[in-house]
Amino acid sequence: MKIKNICCIGAGYVGGPTMAVVAQKCPHIKVTIVDINESRIAAWNDEDLSKLPVFEPGLDEVVKEARGRNLFFSTDVDKAIDEADMIFISVNTPTKTYGKGKGMAADLKYIELCARQIAKISKSNKIVVEKSTLPVRTASAIKNILEHTGNGVQFQILSNPEFLAEGTAIEDLLSPDRVLIGGDNTIEGQKAIQALVDIYANWVPKERILTTNLWSSELSKLTANAFLAQRVSSINAMSELCEKSGADINEVAKAIGMDGRIGSKFLKASVGFGGSCFQKDILNLVYIAKTYGLKEVADYWEQVILMNEHQKKRFSDNIVNTLYNTVSGKKITFFGWAFKKDTNDTRESAAIQVADNLLSEQANILVYDPKVIEERIYADLDYLNSRTSEENRDLLKIKTNPYEASKNSHAIAILTEWDEFKTYDWVKIYNHMNKPAFIFDGRGILDMEELKKIGFVCYKIGSGSK
Ligand code: NAD
Ligand code: UGA
Repeated sequence: MKIKNICCIGAGYVGGPTMAVVAQKCPHIKVTIVDINESRIAAWNDEDLSKLPVFEPGLDEVVKEARGRNLFFSTDVDKAIDEADMIFISVNTPTKTYGKGKGMAADLKYIELCARQIAKISKSNKIVVEKSTLPVRTASAIKNILEHTGNGVQFQILSNPEFLAEGTAIEDLLSPDRVLIGGDNTIEGQKAIQALVDIYANWVPKERILTTNLWSSELSKLTANAFLAQRVSSINAMSELCEKSGADINEVAKAIGMDGRIGSKFLKASVGFGGSCFQKDILNLVYIAKTYGLKEVADYWEQVILMNEHQKKRFSDNIVNTLYNTVSGKKITFFGWAFKKDTNDTRESAAIQVADNLLSEQANILVYDPKVIEERIYADLDYLNSRTSEENRDLLKIKTNPYEASKNSHAIAILTEWDEFKTYDWVKIYNHMNKPAFIFDGRGILDMEELKKIGFVCYKIGSGSK
């Protein structure tokens, strides 16, 4: 079966970049990305490519090449579903905030709505692809909804989880470590798998396209994120021990990473992992394990989250303790708000929790981030409901220039590893700060020896204070 027309429901951080790359690499396929969020679709259609709703290095070039040729962004969901032979579901699957599984399980209401809409609109056979990250066995629920329409339309369900990381999404999509496709072991199921394999084969080497059964594919996605997050929590646990014992976490990471069995990637100690998925996916995994009665499995993975919470808390506690046990009325500058560099995404960013802890101590915070906009930062804080939005705006200010943000400040906290922070005139910054001037490097990116020479009192995650 040759696919000519693709629809992707959800024009977010995954749907947008993923389908833009499919369109770029498959000019013979029409790709329509639809979303109910009108302003998001308008931004994807904006002539000015700097206004795309997702900031990703290289994304503007891909959109420029394919948009209007075979890549389209639209709010007409029904029409795109009707015309497509293959439909990707790439909507959000956040942690449930209500009812059974509240705070743990994935909220599948958006997925179910998509399935119902596809069932209602479809007049011809379609392949439905789960692109969103989903609990294992979700495909059977989607199948159930689709198969009970009574209109004779045949559906095949595939699982094709996305492994891109934000900030490197285009690179990851163009040259993935692997593409995973799960489907039914029936003749029709295998045909559907082959149709999707053929799409990726336009640019991904065949040996990197892995096919499995549906449940293995769904569970592999949660497993991959759990293993990645576990590495960060493992190295962060050791970072605290390093600070107590005089060892240096970067040296330890290098020493263990050279062991081929361990590997050197994902061993960077930090103020804690953020991002929309690690926490939500592990909580979901814990919930699934509990549902099957696997208490030890659930407890084991929950520890990854608890360690991450501890790391964020210990970072803000350290700031308070070092600043003579009070930050009330003191200016603290945040360099970085995004959950990692090269993205404007702030979901679950460690900066939010650290800021909240310090604001509760009545600190005055000044934030500079190269890509995150003011409204986003206030929305992140307001969402916590720790204080009124007026209080948040009163205590925390946003600056568009790092030098202004650090003027008369008592301490600088590095919350994101943006490269530009390494290029600043740190003498100039030191000179206009309150003395003693402190730096708390939560990302381990600055040269502490150099900063010490300038006069800063430095703390670096995993190597303590100097
Ligand atoms: P997102 O919130 O950025 O985008 C989801 C979009 O879906 C939103 O724009 C929303 O308006 C739209 N939507 C929701 N319901 C809809 C409906 N019924 N019809 C049309 N549009 C609808 O989310 P995201 O970051 O792109 O993540 C999507 C999925 O991909 C999640 O399951 C996530 O776990 C997974 N994932 C995310 C990443 C990542 O880096 N962000 C990576 C891999 C996998
Ligand atoms: C992660 C995975 O890497 C992707 O494979 C997956 O597709 C995605 O989640 C998802 O499912 O959403 P992402 O969250 O975009 O991608 O970014 P990462 O590079 O994984 O970083 C996550 C967090 O961990 C960031 O806050 C980052 O700063 C932190 N991190 C990462 C560390 O603190 N240390 C490290 O060594 C690596």
